[in-house]
Amino acid sequence: MSEAPSYSPGLAGVIAGRTTIGCVDQGELLYRGYPIQELAQKTCFEEVAYLLLHGELPNELQLAVARKTLYKFATLPDAVLSALRTLPKEANMMDVLRSMVSLTGHFDPVRGDGEEADRQRAYWLTAQISSIIAARFRLLKGLEPVPAKDGLGHAANLLYMCHGAEPTELEAGIVDLTLVLYAEHDFNASTFAARVITSTRSDIVSAVVGGIGALKGPLHGGANEAAMDMLQRFTSGEEAATWVREALSKKQLIMGFGHRVYRNGDHRARILEEKLRELAKQLGADVWMEIYDAIKKPMVEEKKIFPNVDYPCGLVYYLLNLPIDVYTPLFVAARITGWSAHILEQKVDDRIFRPLSIYEGPKMRSVPALKDRP
Ligand code: CMC
Repeated sequence: MSEAPSYSPGLAGVIAGRTTIGCVDQGELLYRGYPIQELAQKTCFEEVAYLLLHGELPNELQLAVARKTLYKFATLPDAVLSALRTLPKEANMMDVLRSMVSLTGHFDPVRGDGEEADRQRAYWLTAQISSIIAARFRLLKGLEPVPAKDGLGHAANLLYMCHGAEPTELEAGIVDLTLVLYAEHDFNASTFAARVITSTRSDIVSAVVGGIGALKGPLHGGANEAAMDMLQRFTSGEEAATWVREALSKKQLIMGFGHRVYRNGDHRARILEEKLRELAKQLGADVWMEIYDAIKKPMVEEKKIFPNVDYPCGLVYYLLNLPIDVYTPLFVAARITGWSAHILEQKVDDRIFRPLSIYEGPKMRSVPALKDRP
């Protein structure tokens, strides 16, 4: 008799596919073989987007073309702009983004099918997502949306479209870094969701909408907002230290900590934390770093649970004066490139995802007549 397949809750440790896009090798995150540490130092988001979508880093000309393509695709359809104006003000930003990506899907400017057409769609969705976030950001403030500016980098353009003024180098640089760090992470929940949708031979927009839904949750991308919500509760390091001990004694989850793949710490968090410390110093935001460290210390020293990228990222965005509800959308603005690369890959080596389950419901029984049911 053949052995029953094994069950792994949360698919932990299960290999669900092959990929050439990203991996964690001995605790180090690689995009197409390049360590994240080096990419963070030497490349900008558009170079990383190109790397993920094409497989190799761009040369100068290819980078210029990628930037032009993003700029060309940044204009939102009128239908999206008018929907953004009419959605309830209190609507969650991730829900708005999910709906607007779905809506803009009806105005797909790319013709045809196949890998190259989908790669162009990936650029188009990358551009549209930033424009949607920025337009909603401004409309909520009672301001008119501002179109993208030719010649600006993607991160700078995103901030420009939000604030209507060009960001400083420091602001654009640190947002660009967060986009680089957030762009790809192999078979994480949202990428897997996008791959599952693609495996049914559905389309790229549907797969991206599914990815947004998965990323929204506080155990995944929503953790950058949840971490900042937590930090915001305290006015001093002592207050935060007292709270975290109590929370841990009650077995509460501390947002922005822990990771399925990294047990000894998330590289991305270390890279971003270094920049966060520089930023906080420049802004004289010492108290925020006291609070940040007060929560981190017992997590690392006593629980051996390390910060993930969302922990420093929440505070970085906060210190840049970005409203908390755009933090997870900004994660989407980056991860769209990783999702797209995986969608392209899934299409080539496709087998529909269809796992099994352990059935624990009632045994077989017959259907009682309506009149006999309690
Ligand atoms: N706070 C307190 N305890 C934790 C935390 C945490 N953040 N993370 C893990 N633990 C504990 C967990 O309770 C478990 O304890 P025990 O063995 O006593 O039951 C132990 O550590 C092992 O954790 P796990 O449940 O096996 O971890 P997992 O691989 O199932 O889940 C995780 C990983 C990221 C969902 C989880 O660590 C978590 O919920 N973290 C908080 C949310 C968060 O920051 N998510 C962002 C993830 S990284 C970037 C991204 O995807 O956005």
